Amino acid sequence: MTLAVRGPAIPSHVAIIMDGNGRWAQKRGHPRAFGHIRGASRIKPIVEHAQRLGIRALTLYAFSTENWNRPQAELDALWKILKKFLAKEEAHLAKNNVRLRVIGEIERLGSDVRQVLDPVLERLGHNTGLQLTFAVSYGSQREIVRAARHFAMDCVGGKRNPNELDEGLFGRYLWTGDLGELSQVDLVIRTSGEIRISNFLLWQAAYAEFYFTDTCWPDFGPEDLDLAVASFQRRDRRFGGIGKVLKNDRSALDKRT
Ligand code: IPE
Ligand code: IPE
Ligand code: MG
Repeated sequence: MTLAVRGPAIPSHVAIIMDGNGRWAQKRGHPRAFGHIRGASRIKPIVEHAQRLGIRALTLYAFSTENWNRPQAELDALWKILKKFLAKEEAHLAKNNVRLRVIGEIERLGSDVRQVLDPVLERLGHNTGLQLTFAVSYGSQREIVRAARHFAMDCVGGKRNPNELDEGLFGRYLWTGDLGELSQVDLVIRTSGEIRISNFLLWQAAYAEFYFTDTCWPDFGPEDLDLAVASFQRRDRRFGGIGKVLKNDRSALDKRT
């Protein structure tokens, strides 16, 4: 088994769809919330391992715009877990110089959540180490629509001109805009066996590599991150080019030139 090695081939930005909490719990005869609690406890070891590997940005999908459709009792449990996570882990994140950010429609979160979340973001937002982003109340289509609306408003207000819009400028209007060159995702990981993107980072994952595992998020550990990164390191990222030229092809090319 090849394990990931720290080095230049480490993906700069890894994004994880932390899926399968409910099924993990139900399979063991527990309520779904039990899976969310266990899932939240998986975050710290993954953040630590990401730092060890030299990953620079880690984005974790915690709650989608569509997840608002879940039963109120599950939503209440999720917000309680988020508040607890922040209270418990802030000191450790601070000690490790982790810069914490949130992307999504956070204005939809309850005031009790905001009261805990906002000051933590304020305190950790200036750190310069790993860029840790929680996608909360996040939907990529919503993000793109809001960016388009914002840009249009800037045009109406005379701050921008439609002709100057290109991929780089549009990217700056997205919630991930302040990640700059790190906003493009290198590796998307999804746990729990689902092979879909569920409205996550559609723009930012344009050239990402994808890694799907049957392991549910509550069982996902540093060794699973290693496997995902090792898989990434075996990929030939071509970005539309022709990639690594095989020896035979190379001599054929050389003969022609
Ligand atoms: C992911 O686990 C966590 C959230 C979406 C909040 P799920 O709750 O989706 O678990 P499954 O997919 O139903 O097992
Ligand atoms: C995606 O998982 C969102 C998160 C993991 C936070 P879902 O469980 O909500 O996705 P679907 O409904 O299976 O596509
Ligand atoms: Mg799910």
